[in-house]
Formats: sequence, structure tokens, C-alpha cells
Amino acid sequence: MAQQVKAVVARAKGAPVEVTTIVVPDPGPGEAVVRIQACGVCHTDLHYREGGINDEFPFLLGHEAAGIVETVGEGVTEVAPGDFVVLNWRAVCGQCRACRRGRPQYCFDTHNAKQRMTLLDGTELSPALGIGAFAEKTLVAAGQCTKVDPAASPAVAGLLGCGVMAGIGAAINTGNVGRGDTVAVIGCGGVGGAAVLGSRLAGAAKIIAVDIDDRKLATAEKLGATHTVNSTTTDPVEAIRALTGGHGADVVVEAVGRPETYRQAFYARDLAGTVVLVGVPTPEMQLELPLLDVFGRGGALKSSWYGDCLPSRDFPMLIDLHLQGRLDLGAFVSETIELDAVEQAFERMHHGDVLRSVVVL
Ligand code: APR
Ligand code: ZN
Ligand code: ZN
Repeated sequence: MAQQVKAVVARAKGAPVEVTTIVVPDPGPGEAVVRIQACGVCHTDLHYREGGINDEFPFLLGHEAAGIVETVGEGVTEVAPGDFVVLNWRAVCGQCRACRRGRPQYCFDTHNAKQRMTLLDGTELSPALGIGAFAEKTLVAAGQCTKVDPAASPAVAGLLGCGVMAGIGAAINTGNVGRGDTVAVIGCGGVGGAAVLGSRLAGAAKIIAVDIDDRKLATAEKLGATHTVNSTTTDPVEAIRALTGGHGADVVVEAVGRPETYRQAFYARDLAGTVVLVGVPTPEMQLELPLLDVFGRGGALKSSWYGDCLPSRDFPMLIDLHLQGRLDLGAFVSETIELDAVEQAFERMHHGDVLRSVVVL
């Protein structure tokens, strides 16, 4: 039977979000209903509310979540009621040209639930990133549920569902950071901080954190940065070169998403080095670079969507490393809040006061 639960909905562009009652249908074939235990507040939720993603209001926000599978629909074999899962927005199809070539992390046809959750009056909701987890329960495709060790705290595990995975993956999957590499990370919020942590995990010899906010640089040091640069007072390109024998870093992760920080990343990398863009630009942004430099400096200019992660491969592994004390995922949880405090959390995120606020239910 369909259930009524409390959830955070954005009804109109720019309007404050509200807690309201939504209707969650029983899972159909290939679907699962998950009881949410924790869900992080991410910039993308705010972008939805501001109409920056599309205008399919009302949105059911929240997408960095962990919880317990409550019921599954017909034909679901990969998860069962009672499983502790992290929700993902890359439930791969297995059929598209990327999947068929053995590169499911680039899947072009990822699955979401087919049925829609609604408001009490029947208005269909658009769940953020096909998840919608600022809710007591949500409906997803079963492939969006990734089982992990239930010993992990839900607030910590849920963050792997988006930003923290994006940052770790930008370093270890897309940037291919390896033992002895020099790495610079420009922008050390939740995503860039995770890139610092991922680089340390991968054995980077030097990790240079760049930000305009000293609070973020202090956190980056705790996460493993060996050097910090405040780019409001120091030219980051020169500083990174000076710290790497005059050459530049092997891998530079851009975790802001702006043309000027991209240009810094481009010139702060060694010849034949790699730039990874994981920060998300806005539609009007343009980048101008001398084409001769693009050619002459060689190497790779890459983008990282969701850290090029494969949830089934990466989530359980990262949770296991966390439980072994080798990956401090807890450092990203700045505060835990109630469902009705998402609007205030947007405000704190906007002011750079937090890495992540996490709703705990
Ligand atoms: N140079 C260096 N750092 C900067 C600059 C700049 N010009 N402008 C902003 N920053 C820093 C901020 O001080 C902050 O620490 O970048 C960081 C951004 O972090 P958050 O606001 O916490 O955002 P985060 O969740 O890390 O996401 C970063 O990735 O997923 C995308 O949409 C997201 O584009 C955003 C980016
Ligand atoms: Zn596919
Ligand atoms: Zn997110």
C-alpha cells in the first residue's frame, strides 16, 4: 500500500523549501523503497531549488543518502529488505554502448524508479538526481541501492552517494593519482577536501591545497594536505610550481568550477600532467586558452562526473577502508540536523561555514 511520509520539497524557483507530506508508492518491478537514515545537503539541491537544473518543479530534494531497504518489487535480486545501503545516481544499464564496452562508469542510460512519488493532491514530484532522500522514505530503482557494511554510521556512509565520492574519485579514478605523485587541489570544500583525502589514500607524496578561505585550508591539512596556499594573497600557480621543483604538479584537481581556477589548474600542472575538472561550471562560463599551450604542454585535460565511480565497486571498498581507520570520511560531517532545517543549512553552505550538513532521521 502507498505510504505517506514527511519530506523536503521545493515548490517554486527561489522559494524556501518546505517539509510536507508526500506519497511513496509500493515498489514496482525493479524498484525498492528505502527508509532513509541520513542525507547530506549538497550544492546540487540548492541549484534545483534555484531553478538552475531544470524547471520541473516541485522537486523532492536530497540525494546523498544512506538507509535500510524496506520493500522490494518483483524481480529484484541484488538487495533485500533489511539491507543497509548507500543510494547512488549511477545505476548502470548494462546495455548501452559504454556498458557493452566494459566501461559502465560512463553508462549513458542509468536507471531510476519508473513510478513517481507525488504530493497529497497527486502532483508528481521530480526527485533530485533521481533519488529524493530528504524524506522518511523514498522510491528508487533497485540498482540505485548499493549494499555496504552496516557497521558504518549512516551520516558518514550517505556522503559517498555524491560529493565525497566525486572528490575521491576525481583523484583516484579520473586523475589516476598514484604512489609518489604530486597533487594540487584547487577549492577545498566537500568535493576538493575529498580529493585531498583520496590523494593521500593513493599514496601521493605531496598534496597542495589551494583555497580562498583559511578555514577550508585548515580542514584540508587534517585530511592530508602537506602544503596550503591561500590564493587571495599568493599566486597559486607560482606557489604550486615552487613547491614542485619549479615544474608543477603531476595532477591538479579543479574543484571550484570557474574559468579562472581552471586556468590556474592548467598552468599549475607539470608538462604531460593531468587536469581534472570536478567543479561544475554554469552555462554562461567560457574558457579561453592559447591553443599552442594546450598542445605544447601535453598531458590530459579530463572531466570527472561523479568521480567516474562505479558504486558497486567503490562504495563498499571505501566504507571498508573507513571502518579500518584508513579513510576519515567522518571529517566531512560538519553538523547533523533535522529534516526541517534544510533551508538554514543552505544558508550555512552558501557562506562556506560547513563541509556538509547532514539530515539525520
Ligand atoms: N579559488 C580557490 N578556491 C575557491 C575559489 C577560488 N577562486 N572560489 C571558491 N573557492 C573555494 C571555496 O572557498 C570552497 O572552499 O571552493 C570551495 C567550494 O567548496 P563548496 O562550496 O563546499 O562546494 P563543494 O561541495 O566542494 O563543490 C565544489 O563541485 O560538485 C561541484 O557544484 C559543486 O561546483 C561545485 C564544486
Ligand atoms: Zn549503460
Ligand atoms: Zn550532490
